Amino acid sequence: MTTTSKGPLTCRREGPLRGTIEVPGDKSVSHRSLLFGALAEGETRVRGLLDAGDVRSTRAAVEALGATVRTEGDEVVVIGAEKLREPGDVIDCGNSGTSLRLLCGVLSGVPGLAVLTGDASLRKRPVRRVIDPLRRMGASLLARDGDRLPPVVIRGGSLRGVRHVLEVASAQVKSAILLAGLFAEGETSVVEPQRSRDHTERMLQGMGVPVRVDGLEVKISAGRPRGTRVDVPGDISSAAFFLCAAAALPGSRVTVRNLGVNETRTGVLDVLQAAGAKVTVAGAREIAGEPRADVTVEAAELRGVEIRGALVPRLIDELPVVMVMATQAQGRTVIRDARELRVKESDRLAAMGETLARAGARIELHDDGCTIDGPTPLRGVAVQTRLDHRIAMSMAIAQLFAGGEEVVLDDVACVSTSFPSFFGLLDALAQGARP
Ligand code: S3P
Repeated sequence: MTTTSKGPLTCRREGPLRGTIEVPGDKSVSHRSLLFGALAEGETRVRGLLDAGDVRSTRAAVEALGATVRTEGDEVVVIGAEKLREPGDVIDCGNSGTSLRLLCGVLSGVPGLAVLTGDASLRKRPVRRVIDPLRRMGASLLARDGDRLPPVVIRGGSLRGVRHVLEVASAQVKSAILLAGLFAEGETSVVEPQRSRDHTERMLQGMGVPVRVDGLEVKISAGRPRGTRVDVPGDISSAAFFLCAAAALPGSRVTVRNLGVNETRTGVLDVLQAAGAKVTVAGAREIAGEPRADVTVEAAELRGVEIRGALVPRLIDELPVVMVMATQAQGRTVIRDARELRVKESDRLAAMGETLARAGARIELHDDGCTIDGPTPLRGVAVQTRLDHRIAMSMAIAQLFAGGEEVVLDDVACVSTSFPSFFGLLDALAQGARP
């Protein structure tokens, strides 16, 4: 049963997981196809767009700015506006940090006033990281609580290109700056401490914008993208729930077809391999600038791993379910340099640390990560999902290791922000294992 409606959900499934599935389209690529399509000359045809709450927030926003979005068969068509217009109302980004931060960049270059807000989770997430660089380019932005938190008020106007050196690797901040750079006089560049996901660079290049990548620096100059075709690969951040579960549940074997395997996103596959799982990547191909492949993970005796440094941005969204998997691995798993987890849809270190500890895990939290000693059997727990889809889905996976006990999620509406078919696919894989 697919259940992502509002309210509590009791999970009680038994593994192993077996079968071949596809997961819905990549969320990061989906947001960008709508947003860049709205800026583009001509039409952008998108196949495989993720149909989920966060992407709907971006769709509503670009429509409010004057772009047209319509569904034609299995494609979504975006018709760009010659000049984006001042929105007539507050733009509600819901739960979606990507919508809010990327829109800050676009709206800095659109004359007029715009206000961006979101749900209770999004209104606790930092925005100074995007406001400060955009101000240096000449934009006028204000936010609540000393410019720390949404809502954000933006008065767009003329911008000048600036070189920005980021303190944290963030594809949202990098993308916001590059989008503002499309409207700026002179060259805009961003230098990151480590490479974050590069979907913006790839898609803009595919739309004819000369984006130059030189090591950790990305440079862009003013220009208007050209409409293009986008084919959205499956989201590795969604697949990770099943792949990590399959690695640790004896007898499991899961294949995910047409999965996005952009190397800025495949840290979880490296960790699965390092932990001893059998990982096979077949049929690798590149379509519309994004690599994809059919990925199979088979269960094995897992061992603890170290996750730090440049690996972290390559699997930041997967860390909650990696933490679940680590409770089943022999020995110590150490996660460091992942302070960013504290400013996602919830403080994911605190949420997973507290919840896994109650479920019987041996976990110690650090300011920037955690140490997990395994293996430990888990037990059933009541989970506060905190408006965070990845906490809900990670703990639904944790239940598979709870010896038949129940995990009760207090509210699973959040799952529909990124992965409405999660529970249906989990059931299918659990049933696939049955004779
Ligand atoms: C995203 C970037 C990451 C990631 C988020 C999606 C994007 O956030 O966690 O889920 O699409 O650019 P940060 O830029 O804050 O690291």
